[in-house]
Amino acid sequence: MPIVWTPDLSVGVDHIDEQHKIWFEMANELFEAGKERRARDYIDKMLGFLDEYTKQHFRDEEAYMEEIRYPEIEAQKKAHANFVNELARLKSEYESSGGNILVIINANKMVINWLTNHIKNMDKKIGDYVKTLGS
Ligand SMILES: [Fe+2]
Repeated sequence: MPIVWTPDLSVGVDHIDEQHKIWFEMANELFEAGKERRARDYIDKMLGFLDEYTKQHFRDEEAYMEEIRYPEIEAQKKAHANFVNELARLKSEYESSGGNILVIINANKMVINWLTNHIKNMDKKIGDYVKTLGS
């Protein structure tokens, strides 16, 4: 099942939504590449991209939360750190398996669930908070 960003995942903060869309595209590209049994180099590269982009996105999102003094920032940071660890675990499991694509394919569901649940349950609240700020 492809991972697609749908409008119900909109947080209501444009720059966050834009990053989320790219993030979904990258995850999708990685898992599609896995399913299609693309070349190992390509899979390696996509996994690296997803990892880098995830970290960059979290840094940007956290900087924004600081800027707006978002009250639930600590819970967000914790959730982000957990997911960074999950990805690190995925990477090392993949590496120690000698680049077994099944490791990637099997992680598909975990990643989709995390992304969608995190956005729906946590990131959307950032947008709700922004609305209370006025201008
Ligand atoms: Fe977040």
